[in-house]
Amino acid sequence: MCGIVGAIAQRNVSPILIEGLRRLEYRGYDSAGLALVGDNGLQRRRAVGKVAALADALAASPLDSRLGIAHTRWATHGVPAERNSHPHASRTVAVVHNGIIENHEALRTRLIDAGYAFESETDTEVVAHLLQQQIDAGSSLRQALCAILPELRGAYALAVIDANSPDHLLLARKGSPLVLGVGIGEHFAASDALALLPVTNRFVYLEEGDIAELRASGYEIFTADGTMQQRPVRTSTLSPDAVDKGPYRHFMTKEIFEQPVALAQTLQGRTAHGRVLEACLGPQAEALLARVRNVHIVACGTSSHAGMVARYWFEQIARVPCQVELASEFRYRNPVIAPDTLFITISQSGETADTLEALRHARQSANVAAALVICNAPESSLVRESDIALMTHAGPERSVASTKAFTTQLMALALVMLLMARRSGAIDAEREAELVAQLEAAPRLVEDVLAQNDRIRQIAESLLTKQNALFLGRGPMWPVAMEGALKLKEVSYVHAEAYAAGELKHGPLALVDEDMPVIAVAPRGDLLDKVKSNLQEVRARGGELLVFADAEAGFRDEPGVTVFGMPHGAELTDPIVYTIPLQLLAYHVAVLKGTDVDQPRNLAKSVTVE
Ligand code: F6R
Repeated sequence: MCGIVGAIAQRNVSPILIEGLRRLEYRGYDSAGLALVGDNGLQRRRAVGKVAALADALAASPLDSRLGIAHTRWATHGVPAERNSHPHASRTVAVVHNGIIENHEALRTRLIDAGYAFESETDTEVVAHLLQQQIDAGSSLRQALCAILPELRGAYALAVIDANSPDHLLLARKGSPLVLGVGIGEHFAASDALALLPVTNRFVYLEEGDIAELRASGYEIFTADGTMQQRPVRTSTLSPDAVDKGPYRHFMTKEIFEQPVALAQTLQGRTAHGRVLEACLGPQAEALLARVRNVHIVACGTSSHAGMVARYWFEQIARVPCQVELASEFRYRNPVIAPDTLFITISQSGETADTLEALRHARQSANVAAALVICNAPESSLVRESDIALMTHAGPERSVASTKAFTTQLMALALVMLLMARRSGAIDAEREAELVAQLEAAPRLVEDVLAQNDRIRQIAESLLTKQNALFLGRGPMWPVAMEGALKLKEVSYVHAEAYAAGELKHGPLALVDEDMPVIAVAPRGDLLDKVKSNLQEVRARGGELLVFADAEAGFRDEPGVTVFGMPHGAELTDPIVYTIPLQLLAYHVAVLKGTDVDQPRNLAKSVTVE
């Protein structure tokens, strides 16, 4: 989703802004731009396409300035085009915006009537003209911003500058993330701290309703009514290199290969002597969980697949009733939440608008005993608004396609499930120790699969001519199949669907022929024989099978059947471990097809608008 960078310093800020935008590329965007205040007043450069195109435009006609704002735009209102790219400007004012101004049409009509001319179809341009209108009436930029914010309906992170006030930059946050970077004699802003790591490791995370005024020498945070706010300065331990590709060609492979470490980090310090430590949910968790009798999980996309896997675990192992649903559906229905519910949201970014609104919606029910978030971003809105946060220690995920976030979410969900299973008396100490040992084995099993990367690359070649694919699984492997299908479609643009294997004969079998590869995840377990029967149904119709199965599960390579031998796992590790070859398969098909693997078309990393 859109990315914002801003800087005020005693040196030229344009290289800082361009590097910041590069570091936000992972969020997904289709145009980029910047505005600087220099000797010739307000100057803008904007370009459709990659940040590199903007950097080229700037190199062709360099700008030197101590104050500037920059933006990567993911189109919502109006096509990707230079006129719609941010920053948007009125006479001396320039604005960058992440979010959506819902009442922009009414504001636009009013401004047109007042004589302001619009050059774009965006919702954001109204903000520039509203500010200019206030400034023309005699307000300072700060007064103008405080005056117009109550008029804006919707969500925003805003950075604004005025050529007539070259010594400050203003920020405002409501519904979209914004972080302030604290330097020595210079200050910065960005939608993600990662963008600013080359210039500072000290950050202030703005809260809902915060406005900030940044000067080279300092900053102030306040609300629209002028009340001053104190926010803690946090020091990040991330090195600027944490967001580099290292020896990998894409962030997606880097992040796939980071999974053994990410899983181990997510588990570290949370188990001891075959027990999950209650302290891993924080000091207040014990009291909050004491009354929990139901679990309700809400998330989007890949994170929702993690929730779907966990539902099997919560019910089969912990014997706790569990519902899972998409945040975008939950937030607009009138749900009946069961009494004494642990409401779990799952999100890599912690900023997904639908998930955040779902949490706020759930909070209206007195039946929510506690809100727990499983998240990879410690300073995110979801973490702040939940009672308990269990962090996945996956490290920054830059590829738009989520990989290590998913498997570490599964690890974290397994920990929560085990705590509840112990509490409900569904497992004894011996069984808990057995399940904890399974989790501890996950990093090694994942490594075993990663070691077979070359074989998956070869298999990917055989899929290159296919336009469609069907993924099958049963039980907790059904959402794993869904995750495999999602990965394939988003990075390689191959149409892929996932079905619970038992559903095949209720419709999708009609699609099966030699052009429809059927990809099955079939670990050993109670459902293996059922899956085998379903796969026979595919073979009998001439369908080509690719089966990811335990080496001892009884599948053999034969014409029309390719078998990929998986390590022997267990109930808690299989969903984690079987996800790995599906991620690699999607990756290799995408690379062979030449797609933009890390930033697939039309997609954004952190979906901060609904
Ligand atoms: C797919 C993907 C998305 C996200 C979804 C939720 O690879 O990354 O489906 O999982 O947008 O994002 P988070 O987890 O940040 O809430």
